[in-house]
Amino acid sequence: MGSRLIKHFCLLFVLLSSTTVISEPLTHKQKSCLSCHTVNSRTAFRGPQIGGLPEAYIYQQLVDFKTGLRVGVDEQNVMAAVSQSMSEAQMKDIAEWAAGLETTAMFDHSKASDLPGFQVYETTCLDCHSSFMGRLITGSPNLESLSPDYLVRQLHLFRNGSRHFKSPTKHQTKMMKVVKDLSEVDFANLNAFIKSAMP
Ligand code: HEC
Ligand code: HEC
Repeated sequence: MGSRLIKHFCLLFVLLSSTTVISEPLTHKQKSCLSCHTVNSRTAFRGPQIGGLPEAYIYQQLVDFKTGLRVGVDEQNVMAAVSQSMSEAQMKDIAEWAAGLETTAMFDHSKASDLPGFQVYETTCLDCHSSFMGRLITGSPNLESLSPDYLVRQLHLFRNGSRHFKSPTKHQTKMMKVVKDLSEVDFANLNAFIKSAMP
């Protein structure tokens, strides 16, 4: 009788331990990402928040930084150095983890709808970036967690052709085209609107 009771206890223990999710401690690499990629980061090379970006997008950015297709606008180009030591498998793992990080909202297009640049955003960018279906179909990242300064910097890189893609998808090609085709006035208005569209 006693030994049956012990067996039941053992079984219960095995069941419990196999269903309890034990959160893994952060690896050295993951901690290093967080030193630059949280909203509170105070480093000189502060990067954008990366949580909430699509996993495939994060992985592709790491590959592009490593191969030099994408060059950061920070003078030190820190992401080139960060990605150099990473294998493809490590990049995939870290992209899966990073996509699940929590973020704080930093851009809300509805908050500056009285500015002329809002019209530009609404007619040119909104369908791909600010609708769930649009993002799903086009693979566009959600811009909400990206800081206005970062967004504006990236737009300049797309406009002057310094952010490259190995073999651009039709949506990436369209993205580059719409940004390049904006008149000087529309581009300036768009940037002013982004800088004011804080949540
Ligand atoms: C020393 C600071 C620093 C560290 C450490 C760092 N990053 Fe970055 N990261 C940056 C900066 C700065 C940028 C923005 C570059 C630019 O302006 O294009 C960036 C950009 C990125 C982007 C592009 C984001 C986007 O919206 O397109 C991804 C993805 C990224 N980093 C992932 C990582 C991961 C994963 C790690 C950890 C393995 C990491 N970073 C470590 C500073 C850092
Ligand atoms: C046809 C769909 C489409 C349109 C239209 C479009 N984009 Fe994009 N955008 C994308 C895709 C796809 C990417 C991801 C590029 C990559 O893979 O690096 C992107 C990337 C970006 C990025 C970089 C995000 C990051 O995390 O670094 C910014 C900023 C951006 N878009 C802003 C805009 C703005 C502002 C407009 C309007 C002028 C616009 N986009 C129009 C599809 C689009």
